Amino acid sequence: MAGTDVDTYTLIKGLGLQTRMNEAEISEMVRVAREGESYAIGVPNGPENEAFEKDFAAMMGCADAVALSSCSSALELAANMSQLGPDDDVIIPAHTYVATAVPFARTGANITWADIDANSRVLSADSVRSLVRDQTRAVVAVHLYGMPVDMDAIMEVADEYGLIVVEDCAQAPGATYKGRRVGSIGDYGCFSFHSAKNITTLGEGGMLAVKEAHDGEVARRLRWMGNWPWEAGRERDWVPSGNNLVVPMPGQWPVNFCLSEISAAVGRAMLKRLDAINEQRRHQANRLIDALADYPELDFPHADYEHEHVYYMAPACYDGGAHGKSHDDLIELLRNKYKLHTNVGNWPLYRSELFDQFGFGEADVPEVDRFYDNMVIFPWWSDMPDDLIDDMAARTRAAMDELRG
Ligand SMILES: Cc1ncc(COP(=O)(O)O)c(C=O)c1O
Repeated sequence: MAGTDVDTYTLIKGLGLQTRMNEAEISEMVRVAREGESYAIGVPNGPENEAFEKDFAAMMGCADAVALSSCSSALELAANMSQLGPDDDVIIPAHTYVATAVPFARTGANITWADIDANSRVLSADSVRSLVRDQTRAVVAVHLYGMPVDMDAIMEVADEYGLIVVEDCAQAPGATYKGRRVGSIGDYGCFSFHSAKNITTLGEGGMLAVKEAHDGEVARRLRWMGNWPWEAGRERDWVPSGNNLVVPMPGQWPVNFCLSEISAAVGRAMLKRLDAINEQRRHQANRLIDALADYPELDFPHADYEHEHVYYMAPACYDGGAHGKSHDDLIELLRNKYKLHTNVGNWPLYRSELFDQFGFGEADVPEVDRFYDNMVIFPWWSDMPDDLIDDMAARTRAAMDELRG
């Protein structure tokens, strides 16, 4: 972020803008504002949305991709298209953002909270396997903080028990697992282009990637209230009505989850540099991790399987037990003395009143608890200069030296 200097650390209190638009992307925004036929899609699509979807599906290597207003919308469609109900059970990691779980809870299904892996700190396939029961219909794999889940292990369990697999890729656009883009492995891949994500479509936006082409067609019919073209060549085009209304999926009400044409044009332009943005974020993370390598009490997530992390964030687990210190001590010292505003990540959902009120307030997830209760997350955005990373590492080393006593 241009113009950011060390003093602004104290101002970074949460997730801000991650990647600022460049001139080419701003030009795209202006082009559609000036020349676009409409700022919204028509029936069934708009040219900017269609082009964005095509490029996204090609990047992903998946059957189809449907542009939407947010990742929450994509998750809502995935949950609804999975046709879940009160007799069903969905396995979801307890450590994730609220939007991963709400759409599934809203179907009336039961939520079973799964644990994370001790090393990668994302969904554990062993935990999923231990939680599967007769009612289990779906599992949501969340590539949290940009770290790909061990999808072969998840798919093995899913195939064995016939589970639908939804990938929540809000924090991992472009990340790969064994050479495949995350979001193209399960049945549905859900992406966010919120301002706080690696790429953005003017602040809000999302995408649903699907494995089966038919699901793309259903999602497109659902996304704009069931509005759909009549067959071509009708002579009296006002009979029985000018606009057609279809049943996108029996038993499912349609929604309005559309992305604007201006947002889609910006998303398509930003997609061109997604891999470069992610490469830079890996560089930042590796520089930070290397600079803290002499402090084993600060442990960053890691995995043995082939993957490309996209570092939505760089969370670490602080184990100051040997010195009688906790992550609260580290965060407090960093903020108060070293003026570095570190934080923690997503609150384990089972601990919140929101989920407790619906009976989802219990979980047996020791690794989630261990990670969250010792977590430290650093200020983070695309294109952080090397000297800022080095300075951040120096402040952290100084604080940890002090805590070592
Ligand atoms: C893991 C995860 N899932 C879903 C979402 C929801 O994304 P959106 O804000 O685009 O609805 C987010 C957003 O922060 C997220 O981090």
